[in-house]
Amino acid sequence: MTRIPHTTSGEPNPLHALTLDRLRRRTSMKWRTYPDDVLPMWVAEMDVPLAEPVVHALTEALALGDTGYPAGTGYAEALAGFAAKRWGWDGLAVERTAIVPDVMLGVVEMLKLVTGPGDPVVVNSPVYPPFYQFVEHMDRQVVEAPLGADLRIDLDTLDESFRRATTGGRRAAFLLCSPHNPTGTVHTADELAAVAALADHHGVRVVADEIHAPLTAADADFVPYLTVPGGESGLSLMSASKAWNLAGLKAALAIAGPASAADLARLPEEVGHGPSHLGIIAHSAALSDGTAWLDALLAGLDDNRRLLADLLAEHLPAITYRPGDATYLAWLDCRALGLGDDPADVFLRRGRVALTSGIPFGTGGAGHVRLNLATSPELITEGVRRMAAALD
Ligand SMILES: Cc1ncc(COP(=O)(O)O)c(C=O)c1O
Repeated sequence: MTRIPHTTSGEPNPLHALTLDRLRRRTSMKWRTYPDDVLPMWVAEMDVPLAEPVVHALTEALALGDTGYPAGTGYAEALAGFAAKRWGWDGLAVERTAIVPDVMLGVVEMLKLVTGPGDPVVVNSPVYPPFYQFVEHMDRQVVEAPLGADLRIDLDTLDESFRRATTGGRRAAFLLCSPHNPTGTVHTADELAAVAALADHHGVRVVADEIHAPLTAADADFVPYLTVPGGESGLSLMSASKAWNLAGLKAALAIAGPASAADLARLPEEVGHGPSHLGIIAHSAALSDGTAWLDALLAGLDDNRRLLADLLAEHLPAITYRPGDATYLAWLDCRALGLGDDPADVFLRRGRVALTSGIPFGTGGAGHVRLNLATSPELITEGVRRMAAALD
């Protein structure tokens, strides 16, 4: 796939826009889970104002009282336009999409289409903890295929886990996280084609959670799973929620490849009643008109990754941080600090900074923390100061 350059947008960096006082007025999970003396750098919410096109679309809808049920394919059309411009993907067919309430409920619905109760679902640990929670809650079994030491998919391990998962002729699925949360790894076209070949060989169905795709850095290439050879039978979930901070405005899209269209067609009609009409309006506006804002955000995230690496080298050199090419999450290996399996607990109690514990990310998570970089340079500096103070 040819690289499409991101434009230099001329928009201000949205990560510089908000003060801590203003952020503390928010009532969302990031800001209300811990007391006010704790700096929250955990759950995947961003410290940014909304992109202007999103504000405009929502304000207009509110002024009109346009708060009924969703209709039409506007969200899918907006995503198809974004995918064509951003990733050179012209094959996102609107007729092979369905609206779903959010990405995780979409994952659940896609897994229901291709597996049955008790069937295995393979994941690349360490991975986004709800992959375990939702899969187990829907009565499927998680099978881990840990990432390699380089934080990339280990194809031999994946092969072996597919073999185990399909023993006795069971139906199995692979829940791919692309780009990967928490490492920020952007899988290459070759890696994804190899995944598709393994899945085909073992008869494993691939469900790709691609929610972080728009958050791929300008100098890296996101490759949609459905575009790789063999990816036609995959199912993907996409959303504007992570890249434009719209988690409170629920809406996502399930997308089928040409060879999985019949599966998606079996999605019960009532699933489409879950997303919010205002969510769809917001996500569509972000994808259609929010690219300049996104480019400014991505430039700011590049700066923040460099800042974090410099601060850690100076104040906490025992932590290993390998910056990823996507997401706004930093995966920090704290094992050399000697703080045990749950360093996040030590940083919270002694440093008053809330990071996400690595333990619920599965095998490979112990001794790690995940830090949310989608904030101002000042708060990143303060967060690292608090982490270092926890060790005094
Ligand atoms: C990989 C991944 N999938 C899904 C989600 C949640 O998406 P949604 O709120 O649309 O379910 C997140 C949120 O951080 C995520 O990182």
